[in-house]
Amino acid sequence: MIEQQPSRTAFAAAALRAAHQVLEDGKMFSDPLALQILGLDVETVRREQDDPSRRSLRLFIAARMRFAETKLAEAIEQRGVSQLVVLGAGLDTFAYRSPLARKLSMFEVDFPATQAWKRRRLQETGIDVPSNLAYAPVNLETDDLVAQLKAAGFDATQRSYFLWLGVVPYLTREAIMVTLKAIGALQGGAEIVFDYPNPIDHTGLTEERRAARDVLRARVASVGEPLLSSFDTSDLHAELTARGLGAITDFGPREIIEVLTLPFVTPANPVVLENIPARGGHLLHAATL
Ligand SMILES: C[S@@+](CC[C@H](N)C(=O)[O-])C[C@H]1O[C@@H](n2cnc3c(N)ncnc32)[C@H](O)[C@@H]1O
Repeated sequence: MIEQQPSRTAFAAAALRAAHQVLEDGKMFSDPLALQILGLDVETVRREQDDPSRRSLRLFIAARMRFAETKLAEAIEQRGVSQLVVLGAGLDTFAYRSPLARKLSMFEVDFPATQAWKRRRLQETGIDVPSNLAYAPVNLETDDLVAQLKAAGFDATQRSYFLWLGVVPYLTREAIMVTLKAIGALQGGAEIVFDYPNPIDHTGLTEERRAARDVLRARVASVGEPLLSSFDTSDLHAELTARGLGAITDFGPREIIEVLTLPFVTPANPVVLENIPARGGHLLHAATL
């Protein structure tokens, strides 16, 4: 990560959310600010993003937002969550658009350069910053997350929800474990949603999927944000449980397609679930009891 520059992968993730609004009518995940925050129009998005090689990543990004926001709604209604922390927020728009946002104290965490860029984009595109949102500048590799959050008004005695999408693979294992420990130890209890990849295993991947993976790895490395971490699912669950984050729901590639994608988006080609590799990108929710 080039700390002094806005994150390029944050722009790419936001562009894929915008593309989902245009190319699939936001069926899995609706974000009325997705185009606005980028200052893009429908025609430009269609021209630049309608590329079959980007489809699976676009649908994964829409699926992870849907999963995270469904779990957040449950957490607010059923478990009394009253604070939201968006870790590595990039150009995430939840705080500026969701009706649920009114029920929460919200905190966005990212590098200062990315936060400054986002705030400029919000101003330029006419998106208001709600008064219940605070920005906490944090480098998750080096800074004390909870201390920085408290400085921004976070109350560790209230139950909190951590939205951590598209960030874990870019961090070192050490920073991930320190972050999980801090979240698991919060006095008021906490819940977390994040995505992670299993270690690369090309067995069973089609040529097309293998090429898409290689292109993504090379692309993010070339903009200074290399993929650094991956986890075996059972090892990660043990690490979470050891840090007090024991109630785990984990969707692998098949469940993501079966539960989150197929009910909303008709695939270009028939999907044979048995042909989807069991290892790959996962989505996980974990909570303190
Ligand atoms: C792929 S983007 C995802 C952004 C957003 N969560 C989304 O889903 O659109 C990764 C984000 O993580 C942030 N990030 C990466 N390393 C970080 C670190 N060490 N500390 C804080 N933020 C970091 C980047 O600045 C960027 O905004």
